Amino acid sequence: MPAPDQTAPTPSLPDDDAHHEAAGDVAVVVLAAGKGTRFRSDLAKVLHRAAGRTLVHHVLEAVRPLDVGQVVVVVGHQADEVGAEVEAAGLDGLSTVAQVDQRGTGHAVQQAMPALAEGIRRVLILPGDTPLLTPDALRGLFTATGGEVPASMLTTVFDDPTGYGRVIRSADGSVDRVVEQRDATPDELEVREGNAGMYLVDRGLLDDALTRLGDDNAQGELYLTDIVGILRGDGHAIAPVVAPESVIGGVNDRAQLAAAAAVLRERHLDHLLREVGVTVVDPVTTHLDVDVEVARDAVLLPGTILERGTRIGERAVVGPNCHLTACDVGPDATVHSTRAQDAVVGEGAEVGPFAHLRPGTRLGVATKVGAYVETKNVQVGERSKIPHLAYVGDTRIGTGVNVACGVITVNYDGRNKHRTTIEDDAFVGCDTMLVAPVTIGRGAYTAAGSTITDDVPPGSLAIARSRQVVKEDWVARQDDGR
Ligand code: UD1
Ligand code: CA
Repeated sequence: MPAPDQTAPTPSLPDDDAHHEAAGDVAVVVLAAGKGTRFRSDLAKVLHRAAGRTLVHHVLEAVRPLDVGQVVVVVGHQADEVGAEVEAAGLDGLSTVAQVDQRGTGHAVQQAMPALAEGIRRVLILPGDTPLLTPDALRGLFTATGGEVPASMLTTVFDDPTGYGRVIRSADGSVDRVVEQRDATPDELEVREGNAGMYLVDRGLLDDALTRLGDDNAQGELYLTDIVGILRGDGHAIAPVVAPESVIGGVNDRAQLAAAAAVLRERHLDHLLREVGVTVVDPVTTHLDVDVEVARDAVLLPGTILERGTRIGERAVVGPNCHLTACDVGPDATVHSTRAQDAVVGEGAEVGPFAHLRPGTRLGVATKVGAYVETKNVQVGERSKIPHLAYVGDTRIGTGVNVACGVITVNYDGRNKHRTTIEDDAFVGCDTMLVAPVTIGRGAYTAAGSTITDDVPPGSLAIARSRQVVKEDWVARQDDGR
């Protein structure tokens, strides 16, 4: 087997000739109609997530910076759900087309062609299951065609090419055709150069090649890969661009999903470590979604999982053992051994260990939520504290408030949720039940062990517990000898 071309042809074009760059005359076609049988899942493969983003969304993010004229996503299996996910990515010029029966990758592209706008001259075809793809790898395809070659394709030399179509080259090193794993001869299976499934093709040539696909193959499908041999047979060169596996790897099963997620996380951590200046004590146990932002001089301690757009401010310390989803942690805050969702932790606030911040928790500047505290739909004003063992829900807490140990807002009567208000500088004593709706006035106190059912006016003390009764010498009066 001839050695694959490690460097793409790089025609020297004047700087002002942008023809080899992605541009308005390019349409991207993303293939996302398949079921993903090898996933053994009820969810369409492209809707599975790696490092927080669906597979199809990852592919669209690689396309986003290219400024192409049109993006067409072919949907089929769970078309509505995939369509909604694609829509949410919010790219310009985005539309979906349906592939009702999934008869192969070639058939999928056939469905997309009628949707292409008039001005489209080139088509960039991408699988929907390659989440590692980068804009630079795609730029390589444009550079390789240089406006001259009618087509280019991405390939990779794999250690183990199992599952990938093999790139068969001629004696002179040029690409001859692609043969699918299931159709390959033993000799062809030895080839380690695999097809990434990503091609840039002249629209007219693609249109023509698509009409000539057959399904006489091991899977009885219309293979998109056959266009390579068809173009070549017509005397057109296809420029190969060799990219690393870490960029083009496809995800066909859950083992590959886990591997791809690990690569994505590592890439993101590397960016934070080297370019932003974040301390990550143990990258192996620190799992960040790709859309998580961490600011300079923040410290992530071991066992920290940050998901869904969580943002960590400068110098904040998060971990060990935190799981934050869609949270916003302010500068200089510390969050220790905590689960939090849709929560805001203000600048310099202290949370944990063992706090549970449920959705709608908004902790102000320099607040404290300590051990075994659960909060939900709560606004906590500056400097207020809930230091230990409390449940506070559907509550607005002013500034400088102390909510002592064991306080519970009794917010649910079995049907409806009711609100509690605790005004500035109030002091809610230990083990107070606040039976909502109820208001504790500014600077007011509740006595420990009170069950507060009525509003407490500002500046007053409410005691709502039965008086203690002491029966002196009670023990001696017992005749059972205790
Ligand atoms: C495909 C290529 C293979 C390449 C590999 C790279 C073909 C025939 N084979 O194989 O050469 O090495 O990608 O990752 O193209 N899809 C549809 N409609 C269909 C079938 C598939 O939209 O009818 C979509 C899938 O949802 C998926 C993508 O096309 O996102 C690729 O399909 P998949 O079945 O994963 O192809 P591979 O077997 O990986
Ligand atoms: Ca695949």
